[in-house]
Amino acid sequence: MKKMPESNKRLVLVAVICVTTLLLLLMYCKTNSFSLASQEMVIEPKRSTFPRQLPPSPSCECSHGAVPLKDLHPKEQREAIMQRRTKEFQQHKARTSSVLSKLLYALPNSPLQYPIQGYTVRPLTPTLIPVLELHAGKRDSYKVFLNVSKGILTTVTPDAQVTVNGAGTRGLSIESSSLVLLNELLAKVSYTSSTYHINSGDLAFFRFESHEALFPIVIKQPQVPVLYDMGTDIRSQVTIITKTFLRYPQLKVLLASIRKFYPDITVIIADDSFEPEHISGENIQQYIMPPAQGWFAGRNLAVSQVITKYLLWVDDDFFFTENTKIEEFVEVMEAVPELDVVGGSVEGNQFYFSILYEEGDGVEGGCLIRKSGGKFHPLPDLPKCYFTHGVVNFFLARTDAVRRVGFDPQLQRVAHSEFFMDGLGSLMVATCQDVKIGHQRKTAENTNPRYAKFRTPTKSDDGFKSQLHYFKNHLKCFLYS
Ligand SMILES: *[C@@H]1O[C@H](CO)[C@@H](O)[C@H](O)[C@H]1NC(C)=O
Repeated sequence: MKKMPESNKRLVLVAVICVTTLLLLLMYCKTNSFSLASQEMVIEPKRSTFPRQLPPSPSCECSHGAVPLKDLHPKEQREAIMQRRTKEFQQHKARTSSVLSKLLYALPNSPLQYPIQGYTVRPLTPTLIPVLELHAGKRDSYKVFLNVSKGILTTVTPDAQVTVNGAGTRGLSIESSSLVLLNELLAKVSYTSSTYHINSGDLAFFRFESHEALFPIVIKQPQVPVLYDMGTDIRSQVTIITKTFLRYPQLKVLLASIRKFYPDITVIIADDSFEPEHISGENIQQYIMPPAQGWFAGRNLAVSQVITKYLLWVDDDFFFTENTKIEEFVEVMEAVPELDVVGGSVEGNQFYFSILYEEGDGVEGGCLIRKSGGKFHPLPDLPKCYFTHGVVNFFLARTDAVRRVGFDPQLQRVAHSEFFMDGLGSLMVATCQDVKIGHQRKTAENTNPRYAKFRTPTKSDDGFKSQLHYFKNHLKCFLYS
């Protein structure tokens, strides 16, 4: 017998090792029910662990020098105030949050097809769920299950080869030996919300064997648009509004300067002086208020009377110059329609600020810093205008946006930033350096001693404002920096 050459021997050894490895591999696959015959190369996904809830937000840190707000109320009232604040805050949360803020994620290699976002239904209205499909390898029978919590699921009546359970309830299962027929029924599944709500959501759970998915359903009553007809001239686009109190000499200078550049634009004056002086003139509307109602009450009154798309806020001691070009403000707003407010500069001072806000842990309240000079990037194609959070007392704004936020009439004296605090997250604000207005100098003639007495905030005003921030804005501290 011829001896096998050394090299051949080695080859045989390699072959034996290969075959053994393959066999072992096959055995391993069998015991792990991993079928090589299956068309879908599915690695069994991890058992889903849908997060039940976002982790609670951490308590915020008060910066050095920030005013702590909690202990400003009289001691005997603190506990009760805190409880009322907590209750209001919980209601606020209930109004402003929904299941749609829950974190959802897609598991790897799922045979389930479903909408990840954009499925929106009207309250109480049946709506087909788009793109529902099962993509699975060959089985004797296929069964999918869907459930929801705030509505019911329906599909069409199946033919003989499909079994549907739970149609018209919160949980629906469809079973068939035919994947094609099952998918035909899945394509006809409708969701109908069962309680009336104008802006809420639901989560749909979708399962096939051990594959699970959750997808969001937005329940929303569409809103009717409220549009302003801009017209073609500045008069039909903008109304100038101001609030006056014991400062008629200044007000008259302001009005004369407006008329020099804008002969017929409407001016609305809210007046809470003690002995109101009648201001007449074409397109000038003076609203007399009960005396000393205050700063923000007057602004609200003036805003409530505006019928143009935009309003221009000015203080009663400003004056128009050739640089007070309202048209430029309007151009900026029209070029960036998401903007709600655009501010200019008063005597060269733009006074814009950003607001650093942390919501905190939901018990003690949030932390807020108003940072002077804080701004973001320039507006697209408008290098002299920047996004920011709040601007000076000279701004053009969308009338409907200002109405939505409103000026809190509880603030009677120095109050300005408060409007932008209340509007944080709902107002898009910008500041532009080229639109300017003048500020009248204080003189012996135009200074009314009674005015100073009323206008200057007292210690108790500051305390009141802080108490308001504590409750109304659910803050634990704030800082002007
Ligand atoms: C839907 O079904 C799953 C699994 O059976 C269950 O964990 C979940 O609580 C159900 N959801 C609702 C809203 O009934």
